[in-house]
Amino acid sequence: MNSHVVFIRDPDLDINKVNVRRASPGDEHGIYRVAVSVSDKKKDSYQGFLMDDYASDPDYYIDMFRDRIDNLKYFYVAELDGRIIGFSLAYKKEMWLLYHEEWLDDIHWHPSFDMEILDDFVMIDKTAIEAEHTGEGIGSLLYKSIISDMRENNIHYILSETIVNPIPNFASLAFRQKQDYILAGVRFEEYKGDIFTDLIYYKRIQLS
Ligand SMILES: CC(C)(COP(=O)(O)OP(=O)(O)OC[C@H]1O[C@@H](n2cnc3c(N)ncnc32)[C@H](O)[C@@H]1OP(=O)(O)O)[C@@H](O)C(=O)NCCC(=O)NCCS
Repeated sequence: MNSHVVFIRDPDLDINKVNVRRASPGDEHGIYRVAVSVSDKKKDSYQGFLMDDYASDPDYYIDMFRDRIDNLKYFYVAELDGRIIGFSLAYKKEMWLLYHEEWLDDIHWHPSFDMEILDDFVMIDKTAIEAEHTGEGIGSLLYKSIISDMRENNIHYILSETIVNPIPNFASLAFRQKQDYILAGVRFEEYKGDIFTDLIYYKRIQLS
């Protein structure tokens, strides 16, 4: 038997019952619970994972989510029967660079990357779906909301990162491939004594 379970589909899930909306104050605990569910110590490449160990410091991470809810426009949750089962935390360019001042300087850009893409973009920092609900279209639903709001605000480009080393996130790579992302560059980031390698992807949003 293959030990890598790619999807754990819930045959009873009706995607039409999943509601996507902007994150609002009070959602931070539900968002934190989802983050913990995909970030335990044994990172699973095939299921996907978030890099931080959220369970290690609940107060810090709940405060962080609360701060982002207060300050970001592009922060969404997916809920089922009033319970948060996924989220997507994204930043408009100015906010992303405010929180991550060095980010642009750290990237080795692909030779074909057009730097004008950086004039205006939305950076999708973290997307996570509860482990038992991955592969059911909820991540795609969250992206649809982000893209729809980008269209309203006339923003053409979406950027995102995926870890490929020391542990590759195959779920995230497959998700990007499905959505036709293009490689923009690579970044090496120091995290708790290790060097992580992130691939930066972009995609042009059709505005009409
Ligand atoms: C990566 C993640 C956000 C995708 O969300 P999702 O709701 O599972 O994705 P969807 O059901 O909308 O799938 C869209 C496509 O992505 C690809 N995909 C998603 N998860 C995958 C997985 N675990 N393995 C392989 N392909 C995957 C598939 O091509 C899928 O299309 P298909 O169902 O037609 O084959 C989700 O799996 C997750 O939260 N993983 C844990 C956290 C994480 O890795 N986040 C990375 C940020 S992108």
